[in-house]
Amino acid sequence: MPAEGVSYVTDRALLREGHMNELKDKVAIVTGGAGGIGLASARRFLEEGASVLLVDLDPERVEAAVSELKSERVRGLAVDAAAPDSGERCVAEAVAAFGGVDVLFANAGIEGRVGPIVQSRDEDFERVFAVNVLGVVRGVRAAAPQIAARGGGSIVVTASIASLIGSPGLAPYVASKHAIFGFVKAAAVELAPMGIRVNAIAPGPIDNRMMRSIEEQAAPGHAEQVKAGFTAQVPLGRYGTNEEIADMALFLASARSRYSTGAIFLADGGFVVQ
Ligand SMILES: NC(=O)c1ccc[n+]([C@@H]2O[C@H](COP(=O)([O-])OP(=O)(O)OC[C@H]3O[C@@H](n4cnc5c(N)ncnc54)[C@H](O)[C@@H]3O)[C@@H](O)[C@H]2O)c1
Repeated sequence: MPAEGVSYVTDRALLREGHMNELKDKVAIVTGGAGGIGLASARRFLEEGASVLLVDLDPERVEAAVSELKSERVRGLAVDAAAPDSGERCVAEAVAAFGGVDVLFANAGIEGRVGPIVQSRDEDFERVFAVNVLGVVRGVRAAAPQIAARGGGSIVVTASIASLIGSPGLAPYVASKHAIFGFVKAAAVELAPMGIRVNAIAPGPIDNRMMRSIEEQAAPGHAEQVKAGFTAQVPLGRYGTNEEIADMALFLASARSRYSTGAIFLADGGFVVQ
């Protein structure tokens, strides 16, 4: 029974008690690591004993994120996920710094340009697919042999509720997130014999930079109203937090989820199921 006045659902400190070694001695690559979900996840992985290679686009933001984490077990790397050698560079750095790879959290992603399909351009789709789809593919391609060499591990991809449902104005993003869930399924089946699990997280709207951008693009100058509209669609009545997605990433990265592969895990406050 919960202690009086303590909610087991909302008290993170209590949830964490006694679970500080879920990723002990594991090496994790976290892409999009300077962003909302990535930085929270890197912090969570470090708390649970992992060594973390934090990867993001801009060297200064990578450096700032690494120093914010204040850990001897974190290194940073600036890589463009859209570059052809991005996966190899991440994996080579993780091997050089920590001796191998156990976990890939392929989380980097962009929302792209928000607007109607009839006004969209090929390059709107190409850019979003280059990061959200090919960026992940490259990471998985390079990491899988290294993870297999350690006897198996876990690949976690940040998909989205946009992997499952449509949303007006977000066609490139929705198409890319559907595509990446297809890739997760294919990779799960193909990599299972190597002991590698591959799962996707489907966050609903999360209270961070990406939603601010989507809200502002959807109705310039009226982001608050757009936010209120999205919030009204969430049965739990609020946006999620970066930390709530980090907890899901930890679950999927760790042996706690050892019988799950090829699945998509909703963390959306009930958005999709209603
Ligand atoms: N925020 C939400 O509401 C939400 C909902 C569902 C899914 N997601 C997904 O979560 C993931 C993380 O996004 P977030 O919410 O933390 O937003 P964010 O913008 O804070 O973080 C994304 C990070 O990815 C990095 N990135 C972008 N393009 C890159 C590239 N080419 N190479 C390397 N890094 C690059 C950005 O610099 C940024 O730090 C994304 O895949 C996003 O699609 C977010």
